[in-house]
Amino acid sequence: MCGIVGVVCKENCCDYIFKGLRRVQYRGYDSVGICQKAGESIQIDKTKGLIDKLIEKTKPLKGAQVAMGHTRWATHGEVNEENAHPIAGKNQQWVIVHNGIIENYSSLISQLQKEGEIAKTQTDSEAIALLLSLNNFEDPIKNMLWAKRQLKGSYAFCAVKKQDKNCLYAAKYKSPLYAYCNGEIAMVASDPICFPQGDYYKLEDGQMCKVSDGKIVFYDNDGNIIYPSKQKYKKISSDCDKDGYQHYMLKEIYQTPEALARLAKNFLNTNFDKLKKVKFNKVKLIGCGSAYHSCLIGAEYFKKYLKTDAEAAYASEFRYSSEIINSKTLCIFVSQSGETADTIAAAEKAIKKHAKIVVLTNVLHSTLASLGQFVFPISAGSEIAVASTKAYSCQVAGLYLLVMALKGERSFYQSVRNVAQLSKTLEKFFINMSDFAQDIYQKNKIYFIGKGCDYITALEAALKLKEISYINCWAMPAGELKHGTLSLIERNTPVIVISTNKSVDDKVMNSALEAKSRGAKLYLISYNPPQENQLENFAFCLSLPKCCQPLKSILAIIPMQLLSYNVSILKGLNPDMPRNLAKSVTVE
Ligand code: M6R
Repeated sequence: MCGIVGVVCKENCCDYIFKGLRRVQYRGYDSVGICQKAGESIQIDKTKGLIDKLIEKTKPLKGAQVAMGHTRWATHGEVNEENAHPIAGKNQQWVIVHNGIIENYSSLISQLQKEGEIAKTQTDSEAIALLLSLNNFEDPIKNMLWAKRQLKGSYAFCAVKKQDKNCLYAAKYKSPLYAYCNGEIAMVASDPICFPQGDYYKLEDGQMCKVSDGKIVFYDNDGNIIYPSKQKYKKISSDCDKDGYQHYMLKEIYQTPEALARLAKNFLNTNFDKLKKVKFNKVKLIGCGSAYHSCLIGAEYFKKYLKTDAEAAYASEFRYSSEIINSKTLCIFVSQSGETADTIAAAEKAIKKHAKIVVLTNVLHSTLASLGQFVFPISAGSEIAVASTKAYSCQVAGLYLLVMALKGERSFYQSVRNVAQLSKTLEKFFINMSDFAQDIYQKNKIYFIGKGCDYITALEAALKLKEISYINCWAMPAGELKHGTLSLIERNTPVIVISTNKSVDDKVMNSALEAKSRGAKLYLISYNPPQENQLENFAFCLSLPKCCQPLKSILAIIPMQLLSYNVSILKGLNPDMPRNLAKSVTVE
């Protein structure tokens, strides 16, 4: 799961690559590399770490008119320079950058070894470079076609041939690939945000292209020339500035109010008539990570406000489950990036089963969006930090608005007002969580408890904290603690109690006090400050401002996002780029 960029232009090709790589860094950032080609000379530079390190070590190759770059999220082989891309085949005859997974790489590599092609890296991608180098067809597209036919799995790869003129080649299968040409510069990339302004092409599975000076030729799966039409250029937001914030994550949390206001406005201008005509008897909401958590809340909305059978599922489970899905099932796929491989595969499965497909995403040109019969933007604006913050809040609010749109006009207008009001409330509610963070940042385990939607907030809060602080965090339904997990509570183990629902407040308190009796240190996030005589049970109490019940989960998650951020900073980590992760998980 990586980002690739390739360019053919008269000069400064490195600049296009570096700029592009910064923009696709959300796809992985454990190592990075660039290949420049001038005539038959090839120069490869790569490094473990981030783009700035690569820029520092890369000298522009004189006369280079072709270049391709790669930012990696390791799937096969350790994170080191050797396994970083670009990867060369024998004698640098062909050099490639690859995004995806070659599932049959191990059998291919052993086969190739018998033919004298010896792998030098531990990557699956090297199989592509070796396959390309195996034959010497006169037309390099034939090498591409031949190599492509041996591959199983998913790929978007870009390749250069040493003895070739100023060209690069690219192929796509189940990993996104886009192309761009303005007569002077021709490019390919994993995401059109890498391109200068203007219309671009979206390659379909099986297609290839040859990018040369100011020109792109497209080929179908059999190598026949095709003429795809251009995708209209829509201003693609790639808000790369931190605007004075130390990290994107902090900036993005603070952008939540404006994002929610934009979402409310966009939903107000959306026509739901077609969706309202869809007959369904069951709703499945599908996503991964934080998006899955927003699906859990979405399912509660469907059950509560539409009295419909609704259930959330992890996309990675849904795609292999024996779930009964048919034309009467409304499947709602939620994804910030719209490129999450599991969510896409789950949507493809639902399409095969004739379910009705709704997509809620932040990226309207994404693969997932192209699969939806009904597509709604979550309008969060670009989210760069790996931890989902404003996008999560917009997903929850988007699902709320969607359910209310299906309920009826009055409910819908009220819900739009509620979201707009929440946006205003939030503007004044960015509290300082540094004391709280100070108290917990050295702990090695932290528990979050809640009931109903507060349990879902606990799940999301635990995910957020663990992903950027590396502390072992667990979320439990409050009432479940005593059924096993309580044995893990020791003296001063932090238990963060989320309680925003008055009707079950007492029950949550009981569970919290049971933990306290076993030595837990309690922290409370609630609307109802505890009774005077209860105050001493809590090391920290945070009272949330007034908000309508269905949106309380959003209000409650904000301080938890800020807490995670502060803990990460206190631990000396980079919250924007936690280890081992990537913003967009484009492989299974
Ligand atoms: O782009 P998506 O919304 O499909 O991503 C899904 C998850 O990978 C994502 O929410 C992940 O869990 C976040 N890093 C959590 O903060």
